[in-house]
Amino acid sequence: MRHSSPLRLLFRNAAQLITLSGPPVPRRGTALGKLGIIARGGLLTQGETILRVGPSHSLERQALRLRAEAIDCRGCVVMPGFVDSHTHLIFAGSRVNDYELRLRGETYEEIAQAGGGIQSSAERVRKAGASSLAEQARKFLTQFAAHGTTTLEVKSGYGLDFEQEIKILRVIRLLQAGQTLDLVPTLLALHALPTSFRGRPRQYVDQVIKRLIPLAAGVGAAPEAAPGFSPAHAALKGGATTPKNQAARERLAEFIDCFCDRSAFSVEHCRRVLEAGRAFGLVPRIHAEQLSRTGAARLGIELGAASADHLDQLSAADIHALAGSGVVATLLPGANFHLGLKTYPNARKLIAAGAAVALATDFNPGTSPTLNMQFIMSLACTQMRMTPAEAITASTINGACALRRADRIGSLEAGKQADLIVLDVEDYREIPYYFAVNHCGMTVKRGRVICARP
Ligand code: NIG
Ligand code: FE
Repeated sequence: MRHSSPLRLLFRNAAQLITLSGPPVPRRGTALGKLGIIARGGLLTQGETILRVGPSHSLERQALRLRAEAIDCRGCVVMPGFVDSHTHLIFAGSRVNDYELRLRGETYEEIAQAGGGIQSSAERVRKAGASSLAEQARKFLTQFAAHGTTTLEVKSGYGLDFEQEIKILRVIRLLQAGQTLDLVPTLLALHALPTSFRGRPRQYVDQVIKRLIPLAAGVGAAPEAAPGFSPAHAALKGGATTPKNQAARERLAEFIDCFCDRSAFSVEHCRRVLEAGRAFGLVPRIHAEQLSRTGAARLGIELGAASADHLDQLSAADIHALAGSGVVATLLPGANFHLGLKTYPNARKLIAAGAAVALATDFNPGTSPTLNMQFIMSLACTQMRMTPAEAITASTINGACALRRADRIGSLEAGKQADLIVLDVEDYREIPYYFAVNHCGMTVKRGRVICARP
């Protein structure tokens, strides 16, 4: 049955309604700890948007007039849905073998050099059809929603050649169409050097710039076959009936990313690729200073990147430079946890310097197989000494900034998208405190309840 009038919901009597309303955006320094809490809070939605936020009693009359359906939030925290600004959602199978090898003492880089790592995920993606990739991703998306994430960035990157990268981007497009969550597509143009280009990174970078980027940006012609770079359209589902240039006309990505590291790509190669992407309208972001310090964060600043992510190996000068920039410093402690590292990014120094810190899962099969932002908050607090309030801000409004969507999502304010979650805790500090459990009882996306626990 179709509703003739928009759906209206009243969330009433929340023990704490965390609004994160008002400037500054992104939050830096002490502003990271300001949640804008309304005790006994209420929120009224109309259709996809938030109509009003305030003390619950102040909304009752209007809610009654609008015949809003009331949802009792007594004893619960209501807050914006999590904005997970860094995921590698599209992969096939898992990497449990790598995991076990690491537990026996091999390092991430050793396993990658021996043909495990990203190459082995790429091998599995190559063998998987688009529909099975989508099917696995859909299962994860159900879990993302159940754990309170309402928007997530999704990178390509396990394709490593045109055909496969475009296949992944088209899977993301397919999921966007059928999904209740918002997915933000990123072309991870440089992730690992394909074996067919071993010893020839420059040639690979040339191909990425000449062929893959225009195609992902929706302005390139379908490529002719080049060594290791077969025409994109051939592998696509329904490819036989797809006009040769259709894939070329679709804008499949919004952001462009590179893995800049000693065992991945150099600053110079990443600069060329990110600049090329930017020229095609893709906004740069960068995997920076994870395993080694390369100067990638500085490159991100120089190029006006939306975010620089990981940031384990920053120098004092890097921290200062990030703080003075518009680049969101995105920390991914799930990777440190899963890799069993003793050290974590220095959140305290970044916050003290005034950097705009965000948190994300880095959901991927190799280094961070978690999609639970609540657990990421626990890691941020216990391992990086962020306060629970800072961790919430970093997981919502600052994540929205990293995705350039702070005007629409990341806080609970009139006029914004009604993306919110109801958590079964009375005090927001219990979210990271009771760790490794799911506190999310209800997820609301664009004003519709998409997930509710009985
Ligand atoms: O963000 N650093 C590069 N990419 C992923 C890991 C990818 C993988 O190992 O599959 C990351 O940690
Ligand atoms: Fe990553």
